[in-house]
Amino acid sequence: MTAQELREKYLSFFESKGHKRIPSASLIPENDPTTLFTGSGMQPMIPYLLGEPHPEGTRITDAQKCFRTVDIDEAGDNRHTTFFEMLGNWSLGDYFKKEQISWIYEFLVKGVGLDPTRLYVTVFRGNDGIGVARDEESAKLWQEQFAQSGIEANVIDMSERDGMQGGRIFYYDDTKNWWSRSGGPQSMPEGEPGGPDSEMFWDFGEELGMHEASELRDQPCHVNCDCGRFLEIGNNVFMQYKKIDGRFEPLPENNVDFGGGLERIAAASINDPDVFRIDVFSKALKQLENLSGKTYGDRQEETYAFRVILDHLRAATFLIADGVLPSNKDQGYFTRRLIRRAVRFGTKLGIDGAFAEKIGTVFVEVYRDSYPELTTNQERIYSELMGEETKFRTTLAKGEREVEKIFGKKEKLSGEDAFLLYASFGFPLELTEEIAAEHGQNVDREIFEAEFKKHQDLSRTGAEQKFAGGLADHSEESKRLHTATHLLHQALRKVLGDHVAQKGSNITVERLRFDFSHDKKMTDEEKASVVEIVNDVIKKDLPVHFEVLSLAEAKARGAIGLFEDKYVQLGGKVKVYFVGDFSKEVCGGPHVDHTGELGSFKILKEEASSAGVRRIKAVLG
Ligand code: ALA
Repeated sequence: MTAQELREKYLSFFESKGHKRIPSASLIPENDPTTLFTGSGMQPMIPYLLGEPHPEGTRITDAQKCFRTVDIDEAGDNRHTTFFEMLGNWSLGDYFKKEQISWIYEFLVKGVGLDPTRLYVTVFRGNDGIGVARDEESAKLWQEQFAQSGIEANVIDMSERDGMQGGRIFYYDDTKNWWSRSGGPQSMPEGEPGGPDSEMFWDFGEELGMHEASELRDQPCHVNCDCGRFLEIGNNVFMQYKKIDGRFEPLPENNVDFGGGLERIAAASINDPDVFRIDVFSKALKQLENLSGKTYGDRQEETYAFRVILDHLRAATFLIADGVLPSNKDQGYFTRRLIRRAVRFGTKLGIDGAFAEKIGTVFVEVYRDSYPELTTNQERIYSELMGEETKFRTTLAKGEREVEKIFGKKEKLSGEDAFLLYASFGFPLELTEEIAAEHGQNVDREIFEAEFKKHQDLSRTGAEQKFAGGLADHSEESKRLHTATHLLHQALRKVLGDHVAQKGSNITVERLRFDFSHDKKMTDEEKASVVEIVNDVIKKDLPVHFEVLSLAEAKARGAIGLFEDKYVQLGGKVKVYFVGDFSKEVCGGPHVDHTGELGSFKILKEEASSAGVRRIKAVLG
């Protein structure tokens, strides 16, 4: 089944269940200042999930265009794309778990023809701290569905250390089985709707050896493992709660938000772990092969380049159609970056001359029937792609010469060099980093950033957004408090246990504020031990350094912290800060060089922040 057929089949399936089909909303959110782009089917539906009546009724189905900036650096692997279509069906206070689970199972197994022995699901484990119970109902409903296919589905209370354990249905905690625009329950802001979810995974098969071939081979594989064996193809969100005063209050109605990645379901339907092998890419892929004389799949590096180009130019085509023209500001920065990165990878593939417009043309042809805005805006799409490519080729030629000149003169390319390339030639940092990586080096982003700040009179660019690491400023004081936060985090884990995880951090020049998961008030003794441990580490004057690691390596080495986009990610890698052998934490920095610089540490206050979350305010003397 092609992706186009799949989309149609899904929408008409839900129409047959009484749903009204609505067109995709724009990639630029309307009336939603919280995000730059529409990144999920839910965003345009927020008012209706909060209780406002939808003009089309209580059952809606759609295919929503989505763009996720966090995946820009991940694009190039076999399953992440920045742009994707999310198939959605919505119950706005109408049906709930029973109908949803049986319909989506029917669609996938009977409609798409997926082999149910290769399907796995996860459900919410429950969390007393937030007063939301284990979702036994969904587990049972899934069991009934699998039973209809003659499959006895074991339910496992998942511990990631134990692997699959012969299970088919797995309970995971709220880091996996909870959905809101802003992530898990703790990170939801006041007034935000969210709820437990139940996710579906396709198993490409143990026999492909993907786990053994990955960096995670030393750990057991499970459905949420990042090795690629399992692909999440859909998520049933039971949108039931709204955060009020830190508690989870029921919404006026129980809603369902189902989101399924069209490209991923299509990949599952042909049982190919590479989403770039599905039909929507095949014409553009062929065109690129002709232009470059290379064959997709022959060589790893080239395959990566093919994927980057396919992903980025498809995304740019859709963004321009929604009015996001390449520029140095806001959303336009992303369009610019996508086109420029695609062009650079085109030259790596040996493509001579301009090609972005040609590929854009192919995507317009492929998608025009489903997305009429591509036809309406086709002239604009072609001219913007061409114009941006031409501009960039001039920049690229100049910039690359300069970078190579630097490497000709000295061993290492500094953060200042990177900034100079950026400021004088418009040569993007990411590209400098990529060239540096080819020379086996990395660019010091902190220095680049410091230089950047010094030159703030230059026009603001979207690059800035990548640098926000939770620090209000980068003064010496906040740096010291930032390092102290890492020490506090680790000390809390030592004293209270490994359940302690960061739920929030805010640093001003006077104090640090740290929110963490723990459901009891800390005793005076516990507080005293934490303070003692931190001061002890300060006295030892341990060195602080960072390493850039792949996500898998960082996890394997036991780094704690938020593995999230807001922490600076470098080409799919993360920065991990090490404080001697005391703490390892994923973080964008900056930090002091030695713990001795912190002086002495004192807790001012320990209090409840929200259900299951405590808050510490502390200072350095
Ligand atoms: N809104 C849900 C998601 O994006 C379905 O995963």
